[in-house]
Amino acid sequence: MPDTKVTTFDCALAQLDVDVLLLPVLRDADSASPWEVLDEAMGGRITDAIRSRPFTGKARSCLAVPLPASEGPGEILLVGLGKIDELTPARYRDTIAVATSTAVRRRGERLAIAARPDVFSAEEHAATATEAALLSQYRFDRYKKPADDVPQLTEVFVPAGDGVSEAIQRTQRICRSVAWARDLINLSPSDKRPPALADLVAEMAAEVGLRCHVIDEDGARELGMGALLAVAQGSSVGPRLVVLEHAPDEVAQETPIALVGKGVTFDTGGISIKPAAKMDEMKADMSGAAAVVATMRAIAELDLPRRVVALVPMAENMAGGDAYRPGDLVTAMNGKVIEVLNTDAEGRVILADALAYAVSEFSPRCIVDLATLTGACVVALGEDVAGVMGNDEDLSAALIAAGRRVAEPLWPLPMFDEYDELIESKVGDIKNTGGRWGGAITAAKFLENFVGDTPWAHLDIAGPAYRTKAKPLTPSGGAGFAVRLLVDWLRQHNGS
Ligand code: BES
Ligand code: MN
Ligand code: ZN
Repeated sequence: MPDTKVTTFDCALAQLDVDVLLLPVLRDADSASPWEVLDEAMGGRITDAIRSRPFTGKARSCLAVPLPASEGPGEILLVGLGKIDELTPARYRDTIAVATSTAVRRRGERLAIAARPDVFSAEEHAATATEAALLSQYRFDRYKKPADDVPQLTEVFVPAGDGVSEAIQRTQRICRSVAWARDLINLSPSDKRPPALADLVAEMAAEVGLRCHVIDEDGARELGMGALLAVAQGSSVGPRLVVLEHAPDEVAQETPIALVGKGVTFDTGGISIKPAAKMDEMKADMSGAAAVVATMRAIAELDLPRRVVALVPMAENMAGGDAYRPGDLVTAMNGKVIEVLNTDAEGRVILADALAYAVSEFSPRCIVDLATLTGACVVALGEDVAGVMGNDEDLSAALIAAGRRVAEPLWPLPMFDEYDELIESKVGDIKNTGGRWGGAITAAKFLENFVGDTPWAHLDIAGPAYRTKAKPLTPSGGAGFAVRLLVDWLRQHNGS
């Protein structure tokens, strides 16, 4: 993300010294009336443009209105919002994201985004416009610098108003964390093997003032984390379990909320090796970890008054000479013996130890884990929606509600008791695969064995974590999915 500044203005629109002024227009019923003063100053050009066809204010359509070279905006971009009764916050944000991208392509590096006080408050507008502008303009340029002539958004102006500065600051912090999660996911898997990824997280923790403790291979052995160690065996580098804690003084004694994120830095499948096609995308198999550590970064910067701990197991699932094998029996830290039937079902195996550790070390009030866990979840729900499973309906409902507010949708999959027998093992306690059908559910059933009676929700983000096709707020690549959802959920959490 370029370092885009977001600033407020309270001058007349005609006076704004920007390249492009975005004016949101409603479909059909609308006229230039919200922009009367500006229209007059511009010699009726807005009325003319709104009357002209084919611009009708249809959602996501844009029309550029050039202005004479003088003071004020270089041009106006009319932005169609669609019909007012169909205008949701999510559509508003997507529309502004699309318009921002259009404006930047037209060499608008300094943009103003006018508000519609008749539709959203100044505060809502500021948050939405900030989010849309920052997330839509995210670029990953670590390995390929942008060409010199590619325009970049440098400054966004939104109308001043009650709560606007706070909303801008909060949204900027959250969006920077989302961008950081995307960066981690987009990194070359050779640059984020477990020790390197743990270092990146520890660096961030030091910067924002989170407590950070990294358990390495020896530490994992001392703690009896046979499951995490087994998955890491095939790689020439050891696993890590990164523990982060956010505990502001006033809540330092409170029972923590625990977040757990799957950090498989690359998933070849191991001995049960994956096909070559699209295996490169398995660099995103640490998207759960990325979402969790980025959420921790955001809540530290926001000074969120909640105690939150994060447990992030990291391993590289390779097929080396010491790799764990189908048939191996491995003992997790809570003593349960896992029969490995498929080394490609590695995510649940490393999560077993992380969940058991979360319970024994912190006795958390609840656990939320995030993982790119199963292809089956993508088959069930598609690429845009994450599955939610667990043992506590209220917790799942609260997460679903947060997802709805920030347009990161979750959908529940059932945890039928009947499915428990699919993962029963004859030689150990539990098998790491449950056969062909209901794969997202049997994976969650496996995890349930490691949370005891702690209220727990599992988000299978295999679909939305990584985008092959860009969306208005998400360029292709790592999506940073669930950072905004988790921050929103934690902000609403009353600590009881
Ligand atoms: N990381 C994959 C799941 C995945 C698939 C994520 C596609 C994103 C896109 C996971 O480790 C895996 O390989 N799961 C197996 C489980 C099976 C062997 C029981 C799967 O889904 O095929
Ligand atoms: Mn796998
Ligand atoms: Zn995996």
